[in-house]
Amino acid sequence: MRTPIIAGNWKLNKTISEAVTLTTALKALIADDTDVGVIVAPPFTALSAVSDAIAGSNIHLAAQDVYWEDSGAFTGEISAPMLKDAGCDYVIIGHSERRQYFGETNDSVNQKVKAALAYNLKPIICVGEQLEEREVGQTEAVIESHITGGVAGLSAADLSSCVIAYEPVWAIGTGKTATPAQAQEVHNFIRGLLTKAYSAEVASQICIQYGGSVKPENAAELMAQPDVDGALVGGASLEAESFAKIVLSFNHQLDSVINVKARVDG
Ligand code: 13P
Repeated sequence: MRTPIIAGNWKLNKTISEAVTLTTALKALIADDTDVGVIVAPPFTALSAVSDAIAGSNIHLAAQDVYWEDSGAFTGEISAPMLKDAGCDYVIIGHSERRQYFGETNDSVNQKVKAALAYNLKPIICVGEQLEEREVGQTEAVIESHITGGVAGLSAADLSSCVIAYEPVWAIGTGKTATPAQAQEVHNFIRGLLTKAYSAEVASQICIQYGGSVKPENAAELMAQPDVDGALVGGASLEAESFAKIVLSFNHQLDSVINVKARVDG
């Protein structure tokens, strides 16, 4: 069974002290929830302080981007060994906002994924179509190019360290969530692509998160879909209570799945 992973992408929000306050509050709220993976992704400036704040807890740290060179004359960039040094276990790569505003391409995503893996950072590779692409029936073609471009050249072992996040661009920050059925359809398509490129066994182990206006009110029904293995949360991750409620709803869902399974088996 895949362990769901709920990640909070804080984007361009939170000073260092605000980040520590949020982390401390979150830690208290989800201290006992160890059945799901929990990740927070603060801005670069707060990584080190949040790393100290999560010490000894079940929360993991992610960065929001990485550059593929280790060091050198690349003003403004941050490398994988630097993120590792700051306490990161994960790094978000290819978020649609980076594709839209900062020229991220499938090739740069692929280089970043490889650089992250070389330093034991687990990439959270983001894929997703824009509204116009969905409306003209290009969703699958776009997702296929993001997936095949992003994981090009990765071995099965490399892929098993990756998380995929499906974030339809039209659902990000708009309050317009994909329906559970729309999310399931694309998640299943992604798992099919990975089955073709690797194997059914490898594909069945990959965590595929959904992102785009995930809230406490809709998290459980998304999680109930067989191929939705967690969430990448933006706005609702900026407050401890709403993010904790999302984590808890995944956890409870998991409890009831386990209970049902125990009843069926027993
Ligand atoms: P929202 O949850 O604010 O829609 O953002 C989703 C997202 O982009 C997470 O990476």
